[in-house]
Amino acid sequence: MASGGKPLIGFIGQGFIGKSYADDFERRGYQVVRYSLEPAYAMSKDRIAECDIMFVAVNAATVPSGELRDDGHPAVRFDDSNIRSVIALARPGAIVVIKSTIPPGMTASLQAQYPDRIVLHSPEFLQETTAATDAANPERNIIGMPEDAPQHREAAARVLAVLPKAPHELVTSAVNAELIKYGGNAYLNAKIVFSNIFFQFAEKMGGDWEVIRVVIGADPRVGPSHMDLHLKEDPPGVYRRRGAGRSCFIKDWAELSELYAAAFPEDTHAIQVLRGFEYKNAELLREYDRYVNLLEGVYGKGAGIK
Ligand SMILES: NC(=O)c1ccc[n+]([C@@H]2O[C@H](COP(=O)([O-])OP(=O)(O)OC[C@H]3O[C@@H](n4cnc5c(N)ncnc54)[C@H](O)[C@@H]3O)[C@@H](O)[C@H]2O)c1
Repeated sequence: MASGGKPLIGFIGQGFIGKSYADDFERRGYQVVRYSLEPAYAMSKDRIAECDIMFVAVNAATVPSGELRDDGHPAVRFDDSNIRSVIALARPGAIVVIKSTIPPGMTASLQAQYPDRIVLHSPEFLQETTAATDAANPERNIIGMPEDAPQHREAAARVLAVLPKAPHELVTSAVNAELIKYGGNAYLNAKIVFSNIFFQFAEKMGGDWEVIRVVIGADPRVGPSHMDLHLKEDPPGVYRRRGAGRSCFIKDWAELSELYAAAFPEDTHAIQVLRGFEYKNAELLREYDRYVNLLEGVYGKGAGIK
């Protein structure tokens, strides 16, 4: 326990999430310990064991598994080694809160591996461009518990008590928390890819996407986000479109598509829909020469989706 009766808060990872949250906790008067691979934070590794609550915000990659599915699609797997290994840094009895995006079932699996810590999942919704503001003003605080036991409920309440307040707060099952993050990201990814397809159709029909998207987005059931395709005239007169990129959308959709195909191998139409979005997005990103390195990291170079 830090001085002043407040819990000592640890952060593993000082990227967009870890740094933004650690800064905000410090601003609100908490003592924090920051540990990550960057030299500025690497020496704090041992001090993490002093922390009462430890947030995990490390990057975890989705990588090619080396196999091809029956439809020729390169299979992927979630590499959880980063997340699994850092939990050992928390002391027995500490609360570990996974902020990194993780596939359904992983919180329970981590809890089983570390029965003497309390492992919770709190999916993160901040955006990289507004990370500091979003971390200080979260729209949702979701705490997922691997089991509905009194010690998990108590730990979830302790975590909610130290997080910056959010208008929407929920303690639920870990699987719900994991799926809320995947579902939201996939929905936004689909919105971007669909907007690109519809932009192309509108242009062919003589329409102006910049007018159309604003009015479609004014429908509160649709909303305006993720429809601005940042169209760029390049070369002059030829508009280039952009796919859904950054670190999360590519890997999270690939993971969802993989898990869905494994869960429902006979549901070929749904698998085709998911794959269709995947292939169209890869085509858009390659056309724009954008995030191709991330695509190749997820699907592989030679076997990567075209
Ligand atoms: N960036 C976003 O907008 C965003 C939003 C929601 C969820 N997420 C998820 O959160 C996770 C982290 O995202 P980010 O953008 O903050 O990542 P980031 O790449 O910006 O930072 C990752 C941090 O983790 C540290 N790290 C990696 N392995 C480590 C290890 N073994 N020991 C100690 N430190 C280690 C790195 O040094 C770095 O400081 C990702 O899994 C991502 O899926 C990201």
